[in-house]
Amino acid sequence: METTAPAKNGAHRTRQPTPYEEATLGFRNYWWPACLTKDVSVKKPKAMRLLGDEVVFFKRNGHVYALRDECPHRGTRLSRGKYEFPGTDTISCRYHGWTYDVKDGMCLGDLTDGPDSPARGRVRVKSYPVQEAKGIVWIWMGEMEPVPLEEDVPPLVLREDTWLNTRATVNYGNWRWHFENPGGGHAFMVHRDSIHMLFTQLPAFAHDQRAELGEDGEDGVWMLHNGKGVTRYAEYPDLGKWPRPRPWRREGDPKTTEKDGRTPKTVRGIRYSRAAQRLPAITRITHAPITGCMYYEWYVPVDEDHYIYLQMATYWFKNPIDRLWFYAKFYGYGRWAQFIRFNKQDADMVRDTTDYAKRHGFSWPSKLHRVDQISFDQREIVNRTARGVGTDWVDGKLQGAGKKPAKARELVTSTPPSTW
Ligand code: FES
Repeated sequence: METTAPAKNGAHRTRQPTPYEEATLGFRNYWWPACLTKDVSVKKPKAMRLLGDEVVFFKRNGHVYALRDECPHRGTRLSRGKYEFPGTDTISCRYHGWTYDVKDGMCLGDLTDGPDSPARGRVRVKSYPVQEAKGIVWIWMGEMEPVPLEEDVPPLVLREDTWLNTRATVNYGNWRWHFENPGGGHAFMVHRDSIHMLFTQLPAFAHDQRAELGEDGEDGVWMLHNGKGVTRYAEYPDLGKWPRPRPWRREGDPKTTEKDGRTPKTVRGIRYSRAAQRLPAITRITHAPITGCMYYEWYVPVDEDHYIYLQMATYWFKNPIDRLWFYAKFYGYGRWAQFIRFNKQDADMVRDTTDYAKRHGFSWPSKLHRVDQISFDQREIVNRTARGVGTDWVDGKLQGAGKKPAKARELVTSTPPSTW
């Protein structure tokens, strides 16, 4: 597929789309979270659309397996199938009884054609590698050999002592618009009146300065968004001051504004949560929804216009009292204030971007500017390092160790992106 873009002389030049432009349905050569292990049972297979594929998860003899949800005979969904041979790792198609091994998709028999059916051992439905960890079913949908799960899932998530809580919704929009959401300095605008923001500005909820959760190594390699360059307090010609003064904000205080009037590191000693991202499509925020948590969200492509918005809070209990106090804060306000209220504000913006692009027939929002530098840098890193399709990939290996992202002004990598 080629794309055209206006050249300086007004003519149109033709170029190959980048991996990121082509990844409308996501990058396949990664482990993706699909569903919760408890959502799949022997009696209830789970049918889903993931990265554009129709997939069904079966549980057999204590393990979860994934097949394409289509019988190769006439396309009937295998999720409608019958477990005709209890105790085996099979599913029989509801229509004519072709029976498949859920482990590898091989046809083991055709129940309406007899034991000597030529379909046996010759027909296969696509199967997907699956792993279960931390109560989540992870699926590999790529053409490459699967990498170890630990390469794609943040190490803090997989730690044995990690407590985690999830929320998943299917949102309207292309996954990339939510992946780019941290750019553009949106947080101080769209979230400014959210209850979560108010809570994080209260001294009682100040972040523990010592708790730099899993930074730079303990939690793998991330693109860190330091937020510099986003204006927070200023006097606007013909408009006046923004944001409007509030008792709890002290403009110009070195604690609230850096010298250039832009993004602060702290407000009254409260360290702002820091955003970071990595492939295949994960955002991480420190100290969210409450102090001491590490928050993650995945944007799992469903189809071009929908994605699973998987939100996850992780925490590590210090002692039984800490556990009780944490539960009170998390279930008392944190989950509701952030998972539901705060993050819905992002999802609403993504929905509007998608609608806008559709109304005007764009494939990309076209008026990005300097505050969107994070998004430009992010796209550049993704194009170089996306597994199996990035320009730094040769024969299945990532090249160019130590390369810095070009023009990475606001976005830095904690270690060279080549180690992703
Ligand atoms: Fe599945 Fe015929 S459609 S056996």
